[in-house]
Amino acid sequence: MNHPWRQLLHVEPKAGWLNDPNGLSDFGGLHQLYYQSSPDDPAGGGRKCWAHRTSKDFFHWSEEETVLFPDLPEDRSGVYSGSAVVLPHEIRLFYTGNVKEPGEHDYILSGRQANVIAVTTLDGSTMSPKRVLLRNGDYPADCSCHVRDPKVWKEEGIWKMVLGARTRSDHGCVLLYHSEDLAHWTFASRCTKPDFGYMWECPDFFRLGDQGFLSVSPQGLQHEPYRYQNVYQSGYFPVTGRLEEGQLGEFAEWDYGFDFYAPQTYQTADGRRVLYGWMGIPDGDYRNPTTDLGWQHCLTLPREVEAENAVLFQRPVREMEGLLDPPEAVSSNGVLPPACVLKLTRTAPCFALTLAEGLKLEYQEETGVFALDFTDEALGAGRKRRQSKGMACRRLEIVVDTSSVEVYLDGGRQVFSSRFYPRTHPVQYALTGATGTVCAVSL
Ligand code: FRU
Repeated sequence: MNHPWRQLLHVEPKAGWLNDPNGLSDFGGLHQLYYQSSPDDPAGGGRKCWAHRTSKDFFHWSEEETVLFPDLPEDRSGVYSGSAVVLPHEIRLFYTGNVKEPGEHDYILSGRQANVIAVTTLDGSTMSPKRVLLRNGDYPADCSCHVRDPKVWKEEGIWKMVLGARTRSDHGCVLLYHSEDLAHWTFASRCTKPDFGYMWECPDFFRLGDQGFLSVSPQGLQHEPYRYQNVYQSGYFPVTGRLEEGQLGEFAEWDYGFDFYAPQTYQTADGRRVLYGWMGIPDGDYRNPTTDLGWQHCLTLPREVEAENAVLFQRPVREMEGLLDPPEAVSSNGVLPPACVLKLTRTAPCFALTLAEGLKLEYQEETGVFALDFTDEALGAGRKRRQSKGMACRRLEIVVDTSSVEVYLDGGRQVFSSRFYPRTHPVQYALTGATGTVCAVSL
């Protein structure tokens, strides 16, 4: 019997720790998913590797395998995050080889190597020898040792790579490199915003129609009542024109919940832009009690990303619809299937859905504030309240798994993701101010 907190719809490790999604690609008729994994330690210590899974449909996955280990001098302290490009007969993977030198160092200005390393795989699992492409000396002189997380794509007939970086004077930025052959890279330009954090991790760039988007995970933003509430953030800048000219628009957060960081997108063979986030966060002050059971963290659901003007909307991939049992009307209270989707329409100025008697999702038309509020300390394992402002909150789509909830507001204009740890299953609910349906998700 699986533990009741074992997720049914979300990718999570059998044992050990998971963080960022890596190397997302569609190759050989399969979704190739890699992720940051500490197989030896559910608290995230020990060897940092890449784990691998494949799926045809985003919901049924092959067994996990560890495919990249820190076994090279240039990646001996960790096979850090990176990305994939699909070539006619192979996937080329790019990642950061992290090296911490012995000695007295702060590991910001000295003592750390950040190497961009490439490997090739013909089947997704078997890796070629590793090849180091860029080293600290290849980055601009004002960069600290924190440079990482290559994301590579092709545009204007050339290969481009973004890297997240921290300057020596503590400004987060993205470095852009160009290449003709995926092997030799030259520095092209950088993008930044004044006073916008000290480090930008996990950059990603993509276009939807004519509009470019630069996604980053900035560290060091000031918390505000209705945004930037987590220890670190993730969001995107609309980019006007070429990335090389660096015109970044207004930053918008990908997700307002407790547990979201380091997302990555890729294009599926049928042309969709799909995003996975890590449904977790580094250095948070809340916990995940599965750690005591031997595993920690999961990924978000895969989400289709669409643009309306320069605003992005996220929805669970359409494949999920095919897994839904016939809808049943929700009432004012009841119990939920172990994995389910609630599709609700708000019918009153105040909306409230309470899950497991201690997690309240609430909205008030008067203030325009939507919130996730834990009234039960144990249920949230230290999580308290996250809120946003400005949504109409007419429609809500809520995906509940055994120990997580993802709330998609108004067609996915805003999303809230959070872990929660119900004492008992099935999970009870109590609802006011909305009508709608609940569908069990059957795999
Ligand atoms: C983001 C991150 C990346 C890094 C990886 C290491 O969560 O810090 O910047 O490559 O995790 O696991």
